Amino acid sequence: MFSLARFRYRLWAGCLCALFASPSFAAELPRLVQQHGRFALFVDGAPYTVMAAQLHNSSAWPDTLPDTWRSVEALHANTVEAPVYWEQFEPEPGHLDTTNIDALIDQSRQHGVHLILLWFGSWKNGQMHYAPGWIKSDPAHYPRALDAHGEPVEDLSPYAASNLQADEKAFAALMRYLKQKDGEQHTVIMVQVENEPGMIGGIRDHSTAANAAFHSRLPSSLAAALHRPDGSWSDVFGNDADEMFNAYGISRYIDQVAAAGKAVYPLPMYVNTWLRYKGKHLPGDDYPSGGATWNVLDLWKASAPHIDLIGTDLYTTDYGEFTKVVDQYARPDNPAWISETGDEAGNAPYFFYVLAKGGIGFSIFGVDNADDTPALQAATAAHARNFQLVGAMQRQVAKAAFDGRLLAAIELRGQPKKTLDLGRWQAKVSFGAPMWGDAPAELPGNPSADGHLLIVRQNDTEFLVSGVDARVEFERHNDDHRHGQLLRVEQGSFIDGQWHMQRLWNGDETDYGLNFGSRPTLLRVTVGSY
Ligand code: DGJ
Repeated sequence: MFSLARFRYRLWAGCLCALFASPSFAAELPRLVQQHGRFALFVDGAPYTVMAAQLHNSSAWPDTLPDTWRSVEALHANTVEAPVYWEQFEPEPGHLDTTNIDALIDQSRQHGVHLILLWFGSWKNGQMHYAPGWIKSDPAHYPRALDAHGEPVEDLSPYAASNLQADEKAFAALMRYLKQKDGEQHTVIMVQVENEPGMIGGIRDHSTAANAAFHSRLPSSLAAALHRPDGSWSDVFGNDADEMFNAYGISRYIDQVAAAGKAVYPLPMYVNTWLRYKGKHLPGDDYPSGGATWNVLDLWKASAPHIDLIGTDLYTTDYGEFTKVVDQYARPDNPAWISETGDEAGNAPYFFYVLAKGGIGFSIFGVDNADDTPALQAATAAHARNFQLVGAMQRQVAKAAFDGRLLAAIELRGQPKKTLDLGRWQAKVSFGAPMWGDAPAELPGNPSADGHLLIVRQNDTEFLVSGVDARVEFERHNDDHRHGQLLRVEQGSFIDGQWHMQRLWNGDETDYGLNFGSRPTLLRVTVGSY
């Protein structure tokens, strides 16, 4: 533990040394880049696909951390996501303890992975459980939000300046320390500001300050951004006024926390969302009121400009529900980003869907399980296979996602065939065909309906292809009376960005389509015509 003043002096001295001694200080900071309505997370100057393992909530401690690496490695993750606990980082006002952050950064470097830090500050799952004891035990100074009956809930009021200032100060200190420790190496590539913010236990804060704001007109800049008339919250939003108002209070609070952090070290920053799932409609009860749920997403985007992107904590294996949420959040002002999904085999194929939507990544929550059940083993195997397979061409995939050159086929039960449009060519994908030989007329599909396939369009006639339990056949539209043919099918891998062919596929390996089983395989396919 040390004092803020001494810490600032060391940081200042450290920055000066870095400025004069190290040309690599200029190495590019991670940043979110937007171009033609598409996004990429640039790490070391190029698009990067996040394939993350998120640790359980209480695992980011120096003594527990060593036990987590086996799970991270088993998953073939290229990124770890781990919490920074406000209560641990600032156990007394102004006294910072960087032991946990040091352990996270040092060990991530030893294990060759990037790190995304999750700031468990004023909010964690719609509550304030990670605020330090000195905040929790002084509600007169750090007021709670009040429910409709005037009862305090387990949330800090977003309308109390003292709460905001305390969080801003701590978060800025965290970012200052990251800049000092990691400003050259960029092990930490992104920061999540708070965790699943929103209010549980009430629909909005009813403190005196909040009530006064609620009964005023909503800011005209917000009304304009949302294409709404001027007026009071109730006039403008009717029955949704309470939830919109809470979303505004919380998004403004978090935006200011993010701004304070970015002012010292501008890493990409995001907010993750406890979603409003099918059938869940009660804000403050079914889900935290005022988090960045779909129904208030426009408001969040308008009122939190320092938050680069909004992530989805997407806990479902239902294809319809999963893809609906991805489609809702992948929009011209926000990329698809699965900030959390369950450690289950059933959602593994959806990683490819997210990539084909131009998504920046996919994070499996709670990978460091003490149990080793068959279900968890199957989950690790399914996600690890995908991460390995994409990991083999990660930069190519990230660039193609950014350029809109990725296509994916995901198996749905009862629908074993899918066609992907490649311009003059089509990829006919089928699930349940044998690895060799003719497929039955009635394709059965895979027993677990979990086949999936990814195509990177390199150009009109060259494709990188990989998949799991899938067959693909390339067919040419012969509208110019020319026939299609496979010119060359190379199996290989990328080493330091260069393609290395291991062997050519031909004969039995190409006569019945290109067949992918459970072993990670990458093909470079060149097609032609005669
Ligand atoms: C979502 C939260 O963001 C995580 O920290 C964790 O609590 C998981 N839920 C548990 O499912």
